[in-house]
Amino acid sequence: MSDASRPIIEIAGLRKTYRVGFFMRPVEAVKGISFEVKEGEIVGLIGPNGSGKTTTIKVLLGLCAPTAGTAKLFGLDAGERRARENVGFLPENPYVYPYLTPREFIELCARLSSVDSSKRAKRVDEVMARTGIAWAADRRVGSLSKGMLQRTGLAAALVADPQLLVLDEPMSGLDPLGRREVRDLIFEERRLGRTVLFSSHVLGDVEALCDRVIILRKGEILVSGVINELVRRSAKLTELTLRAATDATRAAIAGSARIVRSVGDELVLEVEGDETLHEVIERAIATGARVASAVPKKDSLEDLFVRQALRSGDDVPDAQAAGPNDLA
Ligand SMILES: Nc1ncnc2c1ncn2[C@@H]1O[C@H](COP(=O)(O)OP(=O)(O)OP(=O)(O)O)[C@@H](O)[C@H]1O
Ligand SMILES: [Mg+2]
Repeated sequence: MSDASRPIIEIAGLRKTYRVGFFMRPVEAVKGISFEVKEGEIVGLIGPNGSGKTTTIKVLLGLCAPTAGTAKLFGLDAGERRARENVGFLPENPYVYPYLTPREFIELCARLSSVDSSKRAKRVDEVMARTGIAWAADRRVGSLSKGMLQRTGLAAALVADPQLLVLDEPMSGLDPLGRREVRDLIFEERRLGRTVLFSSHVLGDVEALCDRVIILRKGEILVSGVINELVRRSAKLTELTLRAATDATRAAIAGSARIVRSVGDELVLEVEGDETLHEVIERAIATGARVASAVPKKDSLEDLFVRQALRSGDDVPDAQAAGPNDLA
């Protein structure tokens, strides 16, 4: 990381309105968002389906023009070809020519990105090994699974050794091991001083990977910031497990703690704040219960998202309908 304050991506007042159908009905995909990504950062762009992640990325890559506002890469307007010279891009659904093999496709991308011919073959082998597609390097792309295509697209994004990686849903279609491999690969890129902007629905991946997160919802930034700071701001909760709990214990803690689980004489409680915690422990012990554990609960990014959405007066249907760690 040569200069941590240098912005690699600058988005200011960005709007994108698509016009659809015969009557050119406007669809406001992005409604005036601003953010920066500095050199060496890993930033996650998250939000439910249709929140504007891909649109933002497309404008950033010069694939579509903004309706208003600006998008810059390395200080250059995103529409300029030179702005994209140092960018590796993985599109949402990477299109890989079906009659080529991964090796041929990645080599083609290396040629298009002017990778030196003397280094090309070695570089292609390297990125194929890193993305876990080397074993299928010479199969026809048409016969590859979704996850293998995703790995091929990722290798193509990495082949020219770009300073900035823009990855739209890099984990999509991958099995748990594949997700882990891609996480490690992104970490490794950061260690090498690269800057990464990636989009995802999966909060766990974002939480594990990013320095900073930008949560989009309906084309607007709902919240953005350093993950640790955002989640630390939340209420201090402790998960308290009691053994030998009786009805008297339950009565003694009523109103001061939320019962998460009650199995036999074991009682798992959620307690907010240090003082209440001491009080609950004292009262429980007085009824003959024992403290098995008291674990501070770190708020998750998902909790934060749901809380922010509720605060904005929204009904969060997307977040509630989704799985425990998925905004999709
Ligand atoms: N080419 C297009 N023409 C018209 N509307 C579009 C187009 N592309 C996207 N949209 C609309 O813009 C909004 C934002 O879409 P976008 O693809 O940016 O969301 P996303 O956050 O990437 O969603 P997902 O998580 O499903 O990938 C949606 O309402 C979508 O229907
Ligand atoms: Mg998308």
